[in-house]
Amino acid sequence: MATVFLAGGAGYIGSHTAVELLNAGYDVVVADNFSNSSPEAIKRVEKITGRMVKLYELDIKDNSKLAEVFRENSIDAVIHFAGLKAVGESVQKPIMYYRNNIDTTLALLETMKEFGVNNILFSSSATVYGEENKVPFTETMARGACSNPYGWTKSMMEQILEDAAKADKDLSVILLRYFNPIGAHESGMIGEDPLGIPNNLMPYVSQVAVGRRECLTIFGNDYPTPDGTCRRDYIHVVDLAKGHVKAIDYILANNCVEIFNLGTGTPYSVTEIVDTFEKVNGINVNHVYGPRREGDLAELYANADKALKILGWKAEKTLEDMCRDSWNWQKNNPDGYNGKKETLA
Ligand code: NAD
Ligand code: UFG
Repeated sequence: MATVFLAGGAGYIGSHTAVELLNAGYDVVVADNFSNSSPEAIKRVEKITGRMVKLYELDIKDNSKLAEVFRENSIDAVIHFAGLKAVGESVQKPIMYYRNNIDTTLALLETMKEFGVNNILFSSSATVYGEENKVPFTETMARGACSNPYGWTKSMMEQILEDAAKADKDLSVILLRYFNPIGAHESGMIGEDPLGIPNNLMPYVSQVAVGRRECLTIFGNDYPTPDGTCRRDYIHVVDLAKGHVKAIDYILANNCVEIFNLGTGTPYSVTEIVDTFEKVNGINVNHVYGPRREGDLAELYANADKALKILGWKAEKTLEDMCRDSWNWQKNNPDGYNGKKETLA
């Protein structure tokens, strides 16, 4: 079976993707600098699947270390998860974001070329549609203007990958535009473990539920949506991970440059998320309504038809599943992996 290299594979989406790739029979090699993750996640991936993962601690920007990984393993495809992803932090520290996100991409492309590896999936984001395009977003729409440096790094990296594929006909590229991944593996052993105060809704909700935070502020209830709160296309991280497996199957069989939205196509509001979380888990989530958060769009969701048509993939889990599994992870691991900075044994 083919070997897939996961750059940034110890993170939230990477660890779930590792599980699904291993379950599908692929071999998996992971490299991560643990800037936002823990090696413990990979130990748990091994426990869940009963399979071994070769794990390297390194910075993906480091070409010479990356070359060692490619020399030691016969890699068939790469998934590039390694990026900094906090929107607000990217506004404060744009150079750090451009340096990390763009350089990891360039180092991967250079090393792939050196070792004749021709397949890459890239973790992009719905944010590249910008504000100009109308929902539901379809892959044929032009990239729009992003409201923050994080979004621009995604937009630029898409461009870099497309240009690289244009110049090198052997290179296959799939840009996966994620919508809002939430939830966790049903075992409760792996999940999202943000550093510090969470920026995103679901980790905040579950940390309030577990008593780590006092109260959730819902950012704005005067949007032009049915209940006044923003609507997003939340997707269960396991469905998202399965989308990666389908995309790997596809890229290994086709010389291609493709873009796929990975979303459900159905938006839910912030209030619906909080209500569903409380209902399915039988737990109260303290919340208040506050002012809008700068840069938020009222509504954002995918047209997910292309992934179904070409990859035969569609999200299957419900909002109830997402809320139940997020809570299952949080209550079993109230402090997350607890020791992000531990080094490899
Ligand atoms: P994450 O932070 O959990 O995972 C990213 C991983 O990359 C982390 O383990 C981090 O330690 C690692 N990393 C970062 N820079 C690195 C470097 N220079 N060298 C080695 N490792 C490095 O985030 P995630 O939610 O799993 O996201 C994965 C990818 O998907 C990211 O590129 C992110 O921008 C993108 N994405 C995420 C979302 C989301 O809502 N979670 C939405 C759209 C796109
Ligand atoms: N929200 C709150 N309170 C909070 C946190 C979030 O009300 O404490 C609301 C937000 O205002 C928004 C919704 O919950 O309406 C979802 O917010 P998130 O921060 O979880 O997600 P975003 O849709 O803002 O951002 C996500 C990813 C980004 C990506 C973007 C693409 O986190 O990486 O989608 O649109 F760029």
